[in-house]
Amino acid sequence: MLGEEKILFSGMQSTGNLTLGNYLGALKNWVALAEEYTTFYCVVDEHSITVRQDPAELRRRARSLLTLYIAAGLDPDKNCIFYQSHVSGHAELAWILNCFTYMGELQRMTQFKDKSAKHADNINAGLFTYPVLMAADILLYQADVVPVGKDQQQHLELTRDIAQRFNSIYGDVFTVPEGYYGKSGARIMSLQDPEKKMSKSDENPNASIYLMDDPDTIMRKFKRAVTDCEARVAYRDEQPGVKNLIDIFCACTDRTPDDIVKEFEGKGYGDFKAAVGEAVVDVLRPLQDEYHRLEKEKDYIDGVIKRNAEKAGGYAIKTLRKVQKKVGFPEKVR
Ligand code: TYM
Repeated sequence: MLGEEKILFSGMQSTGNLTLGNYLGALKNWVALAEEYTTFYCVVDEHSITVRQDPAELRRRARSLLTLYIAAGLDPDKNCIFYQSHVSGHAELAWILNCFTYMGELQRMTQFKDKSAKHADNINAGLFTYPVLMAADILLYQADVVPVGKDQQQHLELTRDIAQRFNSIYGDVFTVPEGYYGKSGARIMSLQDPEKKMSKSDENPNASIYLMDDPDTIMRKFKRAVTDCEARVAYRDEQPGVKNLIDIFCACTDRTPDDIVKEFEGKGYGDFKAAVGEAVVDVLRPLQDEYHRLEKEKDYIDGVIKRNAEKAGGYAIKTLRKVQKKVGFPEKVR
């Protein structure tokens, strides 16, 4: 598995219900890139507790997310799909990297600013150092490429800075990773406020399409999607609602904005929104069917969890030991 091939790492938090943004911005690209790389797809459950979670619910969601990775088309025999909390190296490397990251860098992170505004009663140190744990995730596997949505770009740049800083002190320890952002879908916006990204934690259920929404719900949400009074399907910044719908359409069908604009010339928003809704239903239906089938395969999923945690752990320990040695921790006596 780990030969000459380049390495890909990515992950998602096991909080809330995944949205179409998670799928089009990340998961879809993971599947498309899987063949070209040695891949690690992580359920980042440790990141999730930076915000208070119900323990039983967090456990359920983590399993559901792992199952969804497989349902989306990632073969767990070829792709290492695992829980972050099952590989202790993530937290151990994060501690070391914390000592190579500046307060000022973390204070600039927009996700920290947004989340601390939203959870003003619980601005914990984990929320602050969240991007360092993310850097540890990526650097532990010596990842060359990290497919994410645009909202994670700032974290990825910080990861690169930390890796370069560490390498400049200790030599070539870490691969400096590149971000991968899809052509369309890297930033899917809310259906109710196209200035805001589509998010799992949006309070308005009509703002997001959830991956498990049924066809009627999906069609209804698109029907209600905020557009404008131009009554013209055009791909331009002045019409952010329509632009977002075109982006969704493109990401679901691999078509170009020009192509879509031509198809809907002279037609109203009603037809256009229905077509976008149908494209989304077509993409999500097989994913949902496969998810519901896999959900019942308890032993199979348990086997994936066990095997892949061992595989990931074996790989992670190599980087961790190297880093521990570099910074001067004494070797274990055998
Ligand atoms: P998370 O769990 O918020 O999101 C998972 C992935 O979905 C992408 N995404 C979107 N893409 C397009 N449009 C949207 N509206 C949208 N919303 C979410 C995210 O960019 C992400 O790729 N910190 C990360 C998880 C993480 C991680 C990592 C990612 C932890 N360690 C290491 C990569 C590598 C996060 O909170 O993503």
